[in-house]
Amino acid sequence: MRYAHIVGWGSYLPEQVLTNHDLAQMVDTTDEWILSRTGIRERRLAGEKETVTTMAFNAAARALAVADMHPARLDMIIVATSTSEHAFPSTASLVQDALGATRAGAFDLSAACSGFVYALSLAANAIKSDAIDTAVVIGTETLSRVVDWQDRATCILFGDGAGALVLKGSDVPGGVLASTLRSDGSGGDLLSLHNTQISSVPFIGTSYVNGHGPYIHMNGRQVFRFATSVVADAIEEVIKKAGLQLKDISLIVPHQANVRIIDHVAKKLKLPPEKFYLNLERYGNTSAASIPIALCEAVQEGRLHPDDTLVFVGFGGGLTWGAVVVKWDVTPPDVSAVKQRLRQARYVAMRLRSRARRLLRRFMAWVGGSPTPKARLKDADRRLEEGGEKR
Ligand code: UT7
Repeated sequence: MRYAHIVGWGSYLPEQVLTNHDLAQMVDTTDEWILSRTGIRERRLAGEKETVTTMAFNAAARALAVADMHPARLDMIIVATSTSEHAFPSTASLVQDALGATRAGAFDLSAACSGFVYALSLAANAIKSDAIDTAVVIGTETLSRVVDWQDRATCILFGDGAGALVLKGSDVPGGVLASTLRSDGSGGDLLSLHNTQISSVPFIGTSYVNGHGPYIHMNGRQVFRFATSVVADAIEEVIKKAGLQLKDISLIVPHQANVRIIDHVAKKLKLPPEKFYLNLERYGNTSAASIPIALCEAVQEGRLHPDDTLVFVGFGGGLTWGAVVVKWDVTPPDVSAVKQRLRQARYVAMRLRSRARRLLRRFMAWVGGSPTPKARLKDADRRLEEGGEKR
């Protein structure tokens, strides 16, 4: 029997803070309304040079440092995100390159706010089936770039950030014990982000404002209703799958969407609110990144102890939801400062390696007579001028 243990964790949060008071200067809202309806006080916004990829890389590098694992030992990288910069290459492939994870397969996963739970479940099952031995799962989002900053119903909710976990196979029982993944696409229109270039007809009409967008479209009340109807059941179902009972669970780390949703779930399960770890007050809803970011803070605050049993539960667009039960049985190794510095130096070397490979590829293409990207553009411009042909 193989088991998938969590051996590393890391998060990355941009420095720029946007408070409820700042938002009250931008849209018709108040700190009191946002705090009482959602539990959020402030959120982080990615700076100009921060992207889903840079944040994911930083979170993964931190998680690998905790695990004391060399990136070249990684077999798989899964990135859960709804805000990838490209349809392809995947954010995961760019992270693979930046880490120098030269033996890893890499792909992105789209399950909105449930994405991290989906990614964790897939990676753990791949390890348990002995298909792979190591994986890093990442949730990363720059939601601030896809919200309509004039829509007070959505812009107050979301924030940016990334979180990552490293998984490793072992014969010792424990780690990821069970998971449940679900979807109900009939509610897809309740929470959506249209992809303009793929289809000119939006799935739902309201994600554009004055020709700008697309932006996140959400029917808040309906999504609230959906979340409060499925989350408690998902927790109970996954605990049962693991052969456990609610009383065996030490801490539940839920997707950080709204404190009122969590209060509702706690009441339904007859659990005290302290059983749920919440940090949405500081970061808002960071979608696929919210669970690993929360887990990292729970570790930092000393909320987790060896042999604790945890539940991660996610819910959101799709509609999707899912939960995972984990035995927290890790004692991170003590990694020397010198080793940490060497690790950083290796990432710089990997950046240079990547650049050198790109240059070499271009050089080989030039030697072989292929037109450069610049020459291709020039040619397209010439054809445009000559025949009115579209570039
Ligand atoms: O990541 C997973 C997916 N997302 C979620 O889980 C979000 C789930 N939904 C929610 O968290 C809540 O529905 C919201 C926080 C989005 C909204 O809270 P609500 O209590 O459901 O408010 P509402 O949409 O029912 O609106 C109540 C009132 C409305 O005014 P009227 O029509 O009653 O006069 C809104 O226009 O509050 C108004 N309102 C606001 N007022 C001040 C909506 N947004 C704001 C705002 N500031 N930011």
